[in-house]
Amino acid sequence: MNLLLTGGSGFIGSNLVRWLLEHRPGWRVVNLDKLTYAGNPENLADLADHPRYRFVRGDIGDGALVRRLIEEEKVEAVMHLAAESHVDRSILSPAVFIETNVGGTQVLLEAAREAKVGRFLHCSTDEVYGSLGETGLFTEESPLQPSSPYSASKAGSDLLALAYAHTFGLPVVVTRCSNNFGPYQFPEKLIPLMIANALRDQPLPVYGDGRNVRDWIHVSDHCAGLAAVLERGRAGQVYNLGGSSERRNLEVVHAVLDLLGKPRSLVRFVADRPGHDRRYAIDASKARRELGWEPSRRFEEGLASTVRWYVENRGWWERVMSGEYRSYYQRQYGDRT
Ligand code: NAD
Ligand code: DAU
Repeated sequence: MNLLLTGGSGFIGSNLVRWLLEHRPGWRVVNLDKLTYAGNPENLADLADHPRYRFVRGDIGDGALVRRLIEEEKVEAVMHLAAESHVDRSILSPAVFIETNVGGTQVLLEAAREAKVGRFLHCSTDEVYGSLGETGLFTEESPLQPSSPYSASKAGSDLLALAYAHTFGLPVVVTRCSNNFGPYQFPEKLIPLMIANALRDQPLPVYGDGRNVRDWIHVSDHCAGLAAVLERGRAGQVYNLGGSSERRNLEVVHAVLDLLGKPRSLVRFVADRPGHDRRYAIDASKARRELGWEPSRRFEEGLASTVRWYVENRGWWERVMSGEYRSYYQRQYGDRT
């Protein structure tokens, strides 16, 4: 199978490229990535000469490039992961989220429709559902109530993908997954940021009261879920994916400190994220029932192995955290800590 994967140089994308090359020996993977601040060629540097992998630097919003690639590579399926992905950045600078997540997705959908591509997986997020109270789970029928510019832009692209299925018959499948963690995650996200700061004995900024809940899933389980939905999901359908591992942020931060043998006094409670969703929790029973997919990794084991990865790959995150990241960190946390 000839696959066009967008956003393959980011966190989930680079894990997915590796997963697919290992688990789908008959597949060729073409990775289209713009290499924004979040896209890092180092993540896949060792695959440069892989016979079934090609990297193309470019923007998903460049219709001519996308059409050319689909034709040249005889693309049979698209897995669309490219996006602006960080909620805090969407609060600081929303425009690029609309441009890439909504505009870019439309360009891809249109190119796939014109070329009659056989399958289009749109990687959405559980954040499109908004926030839960103390109880309950998001199902695929939960109303879409996005809170941040990021989640609103993802809800826009999610609905657009479903509209292409409904109106034009494009064989679209949509996934809505919960919070991922694992190797190669950009250290602006909670878990890698806390690990990196703890390793440098710097304060760990916890928003609000630290009691917000996220439902964590190891990225390798998400990759297996994405493949299952692409291969076996019904066209026009949405599939929730999640780890059934709800944790309060403060529990996660304490677990990171404990694994590193660092003191809890490093925690700093800082001003809350505006519009901060309180709780996410996913009901993934549809994916289990229809596709036979289930997450396999326990949160504690996955967290320990992720912490080890960041300890062993200090050069990777130190390079990532220099340059542009420093001015972002100052803007985001400078007046909070
Ligand atoms: P990331 O920020 O680590 O990576 C995004 C990638 O997209 C980067 O490589 C970047 O260079 C690329 N990109 C951005 N704009 C582009 C453009 N205009 N053209 C081409 N490439 C572009 O993000 P991630 O955490 O790996 O998330 C990947 C996808 O999964 C996103 O669609 C996100 O919404 C979704 N998702 C993420 C999570 C999570 O917990 N991280 C959970 C559910 C869904
Ligand atoms: O649920 C899926 C989503 O998970 C994805 O769609 C997003 O792309 C991904 O970024 C993630 O969104 P969150 O906002 O949940 O992730 P983040 O790592 O930014 O924050 C996780 C929780 O930790 C959240 O409650 C905010 C809190 N937090 C985060 C940071 C960066 C802090 O307390 N301090 C911080 O410095």
